[in-house]
Amino acid sequence: MKKIVVCGISNRALGMFIEPVLNDFHEGNQIVGLLDVDPRRLELCKEIYPVLSNVPVYYPEQFQQMVEEIAPNTVIVASRDNTHIEYILQGLANDLDVITEKPMVTTAEDARKVMEAEATSAGNVTVAFNYRYNAFHRKIKELILDGKIGRITSVDLNWYIDTYHGASYFKRWNRKRELSGGLSIHKSTHHFDLINWWLDQNPVEVFAYGALNYYGKDGELNPSPTDNRYCGTCSEQLNCDYYMRWSNRRHSLKVKDDHIKSDSDKEPSYSNYRPDACIFDHEIDIEDTYVATVKYDKGAFLSYSINFSVPYEGYRLAINGTKGRIETTEYHEPSRVPFPIPEQTIDYYPLFGSKETIHVVQSKGAHGGGDPLIQEELFLGVDPTRPYKILAGAEAGAYSIAVGEGVWKSSKTNQPVRVDELLQSTVIKDY
Ligand SMILES: NC(=O)c1ccc[n+]([C@@H]2O[C@H](COP(=O)([O-])OP(=O)(O)OC[C@H]3O[C@@H](n4cnc5c(N)ncnc54)[C@H](O)[C@@H]3O)[C@@H](O)[C@H]2O)c1
Repeated sequence: MKKIVVCGISNRALGMFIEPVLNDFHEGNQIVGLLDVDPRRLELCKEIYPVLSNVPVYYPEQFQQMVEEIAPNTVIVASRDNTHIEYILQGLANDLDVITEKPMVTTAEDARKVMEAEATSAGNVTVAFNYRYNAFHRKIKELILDGKIGRITSVDLNWYIDTYHGASYFKRWNRKRELSGGLSIHKSTHHFDLINWWLDQNPVEVFAYGALNYYGKDGELNPSPTDNRYCGTCSEQLNCDYYMRWSNRRHSLKVKDDHIKSDSDKEPSYSNYRPDACIFDHEIDIEDTYVATVKYDKGAFLSYSINFSVPYEGYRLAINGTKGRIETTEYHEPSRVPFPIPEQTIDYYPLFGSKETIHVVQSKGAHGGGDPLIQEELFLGVDPTRPYKILAGAEAGAYSIAVGEGVWKSSKTNQPVRVDELLQSTVIKDY
């Protein structure tokens, strides 16, 4: 039996872990403790899931007390990114298994600490990289493992985040680098992990540019240079293109999204925090646009870009190898793309033969069916029939973070950054 404590009663924790454990995986899994810094989150969790009403609750400084009182064997870490490190290290120090949301931590230095702690602990770290479980992403892994494209030489990945989803990062805690690591870590950790996993190569060196083009105090579409506004109560809603694109004057428009919740028009779900702060606030200190080049240890090159204010969401991917090429384009959320879109397929081009178009068998659920599948692996055990491994550990978490940190540092210094130096360094400079 997994005796689970959940650290961070976030929206993600409620939907991704607590709800499925209670409803689908209760036979071998039990939630025995809840921890958060905010009493409202603990209360909200019990309001939503009354079955947890007698489960003890704890605050951050009570982690050790929690372990001694309720003897869990598994910690789920789904709190704000910069706090993951506290619970991962304390979990490992108590020989507990740790399942952490991405990004595992927010700096390469902390990633190294996790790997060192895991090496001397009876507990293991799992990073919940759900994108790996998306049906298209698994199929790409299988094509590569089958040798269809030979040795991988280069990858092009362009990721586009729409003006609804992209803006959401700038309304919430994610907008502060010290809390999220910035978007080259908070968001791109998914993408760098996918590439690292598909390639089965380790990143060696990163060069990148980054900029804040749309959001923050200099955002061109800011209706006025006022600070500290909140979307739900802002007197300039009608003049804000970002607000009006995804709302209407009656506030009746509901945008379909997996995990973004707004506090603007209902009972607050956090004590001293609103997730609808103005995207043009002065305190925003992260970038919204990156391009990067990454070199890998077995010879592959990655050309990556990400932009957080695009009219539609999705990605374009091409993977080239010595025997062929794979291509796919995803339009993330059909309800948020304002024009007809083709269904996603994977095109496979042998170097000299005929092109094949693969119609991938899809599964239901958030993140392209990835969330339900990873939940099965986390709570029922790894699928014994699958011939290759998907579930990620601390090393994968660390490499994806180191690439993201390298992207940010390179963009600030205009110099290439070595990934091994990031993972070895003990002092992180402040740029
Ligand atoms: N894999 C995915 O697709 C995916 C999707 C969304 C979020 N996430 C991850 O899930 C986590 C939660 O994100 P969210 O957007 O749902 O967050 P959220 O804003 O809904 O909640 C954050 C929670 O952390 C709590 N918290 C803050 N400081 C804390 C501390 N010191 N100790 C304990 N709790 C603390 C807050 O009170 C709040 O309950 C993040 O790490 C995020 O990156 C992953």
